[in-house]
Amino acid sequence: MCPGSFDPITNGHLDIIERASELYDEMIVAVLVNPEKAGMFDVDTRMAMIAESTVHLSGVTVDSFHGLLVDYCRDQGVEVIVKGLRAISDSEYEVQMAQMNRGLSGIETVFMPTGPEHGHLSSSLIKAVAHFGGDVAHLVPPPVLQRLLARRED
Ligand code: PNS
Repeated sequence: MCPGSFDPITNGHLDIIERASELYDEMIVAVLVNPEKAGMFDVDTRMAMIAESTVHLSGVTVDSFHGLLVDYCRDQGVEVIVKGLRAISDSEYEVQMAQMNRGLSGIETVFMPTGPEHGHLSSSLIKAVAHFGGDVAHLVPPPVLQRLLARRED
């Protein structure tokens, strides 16, 4: 299971999904439905962008979930949560979540370091740069770039 907000998926996320898909036969990329945070793209669009960006990967499916991640994992029979770590600063919160999730369910979290070329990437930064007309073509998969550019024209 590779969970996240994915608003939108970045090349950093995609790097983790691609590398994790080499380790596991089946993987679900799951978008959190968060009623408290509208985000830039709705959940269906986020899922479409992930599906289009991972079309070259076998065994990868895209879904959404709400509520506790571990409940969704149990429903799906998922044994491992995969998370990317960009920097040590990420690990503070990520380790807390991993410990909580394991305590709640026994489900393990496996951390993968993002490629160094993606260490500075975040969905929020990309949205901010794109909003002000900056070039993000090298930071997001083409299906995301297309939609960001379409938003800019609106
Ligand atoms: O991409 P993000 O926003 O860093 O992803 C965070 C996510 C979705 C993995 C995390 O917020 C999550 O699992 N939310 C579901 C609710 C939940 O299970 N909360 C308890 C975590 S210990």
